[in-house]
Amino acid sequence: MPTGLPVVRFFRGSEIIGSAEASPGAPLVDVAEQAGIEIPTNCTSGNCGTCLVRLISGEVGLPDVLPPGLDEDLVSEGGILTCCISPLENCDIDVKPPL
Ligand code: FES
Repeated sequence: MPTGLPVVRFFRGSEIIGSAEASPGAPLVDVAEQAGIEIPTNCTSGNCGTCLVRLISGEVGLPDVLPPGLDEDLVSEGGILTCCISPLENCDIDVKPPL
């Protein structure tokens, strides 16, 4: 039964490697863990960029002020930080960073 929660699908390149439902407010790194996928993290607070992945489709909750680990160039390439960003709707994520 669909629960109405956003579903996040994780890809490595063109290959799907897992998917999971996102609990409200859960950062993407936790959703990945539910899907059995480990995304490396370090600071878990948006500073280091270790957890960078690429958003293929869907909308995520980008903060109004970008955290230090992210900049406009990265965002324009689909870059998002999984430690501190949550999905707002169904999303496809490439676990490879954009750069
Ligand atoms: S783990 Fe450092 S920015 Fe996400």
